Amino acid sequence: MNWYNLPMYYDVSFSHEMREELLFLQNIFNRYCKSNRPSLIEPACGTGRLIIPLTRNGYDCTGFDLNEHALSYLEDKLIRNQLKANIFHGDMTNFNSKSKKYDAAYCTVDTFRHLLSEKQAVQHLLNISKSLKKNGIYILGLHLIPEQGITDKITHWTAKRGRLTVKTTMEMLTLDKKNRTETLKVILNPRTEYNNEKYESIYKLRTYNLKQFHKLLSTTNVFEVINSYDHFYDLSKPITLNARSDYGVFVLRKKTLQVV
Ligand SMILES: C[S@@+](CC[C@H](N)C(=O)[O-])C[C@H]1O[C@@H](n2cnc3c(N)ncnc32)[C@H](O)[C@@H]1O
Repeated sequence: MNWYNLPMYYDVSFSHEMREELLFLQNIFNRYCKSNRPSLIEPACGTGRLIIPLTRNGYDCTGFDLNEHALSYLEDKLIRNQLKANIFHGDMTNFNSKSKKYDAAYCTVDTFRHLLSEKQAVQHLLNISKSLKKNGIYILGLHLIPEQGITDKITHWTAKRGRLTVKTTMEMLTLDKKNRTETLKVILNPRTEYNNEKYESIYKLRTYNLKQFHKLLSTTNVFEVINSYDHFYDLSKPITLNARSDYGVFVLRKKTLQVV
C-alpha cells in the first residue's frame, strides 16, 4: 500500500502541528521576495497541505506531484474553497515550469529524499534553480543522519479533523549508510466512531548527513546557503547545524552566474 494514495488520511496526518512551519515559510517569503504577491512553486506538493493556506493568504501558488490521487484531492479542495492555484502532474527531476519564473520554491518534510540517487537530486536542484527568478529562494527541509549520537527509530503522533482521528506511526526499518538509503514503515490508523482501519506502507528514502548535503550543494553550485534552522522553524533563531543535527531547514538563494 502506498500511503500517498490515501490523500485525506495523509492530509489530516501531516497537517498536524504545521502552524510554525507555515508561519516560517511566509516570513521567509515576505523577507526575501521583492514582489508584493510572491509567486511560489512547490515540487511534490501532495495534497496541498501548504498550498491551500498559502493561496488563501494571497500567494500566487503553483504545485506539482506524481500522485494523481493527491492531485485530484487538491484540485477538489481548491474548488470547494473557491481558491485558484496552478496544479500539474510532474516529476521533481524533470518538471517543466514552462516560461514562468518564481520568486521562491519550498520543499519540506523530507520530500526531497524521495529522490533516491545523486543524479536525481542534482537534476532536481538544477531544475528548481532554472525555474527561479534572479536571487530566488529555495527552502529545503530534511532529516539528516547525525554523525554523532543516535537517530530516533520510531515516532508517532495523532491528528484530528472533525470526526476523523488519524494515528500515524513511522518506523525506520533499516538504515544503509553505505548505499545511503533508509527503509521506512508507516502505519496509518484512521478512526471514526464507525470505522477503525489500518494501512501499512513501506518505502525508501535517500539519506544525507550534513557533509553529504553540503557536497551536493557544491557539486551543483547553483545555490548558496543564506541561513539554516532546525525543526522548531524559529525565524529569529537561525542555527549552525553540526554533526549532531537530525533535521535541517536550509534557506538557499539562487547564485548569480559568474561570467569569466
Ligand atoms: C511527504 S509527501 C509531501 C507532500 C507535500 N509537499 C507536503 O508537504 O505535505 C511526499 C510527496 O512526494 C511525491 N513524490 C515522490 N517522488 C516524487 C517525484 N519524483 N516527483 C514528484 N512528486 C514526487 C509523493 O507523491 C508525495 O505526494
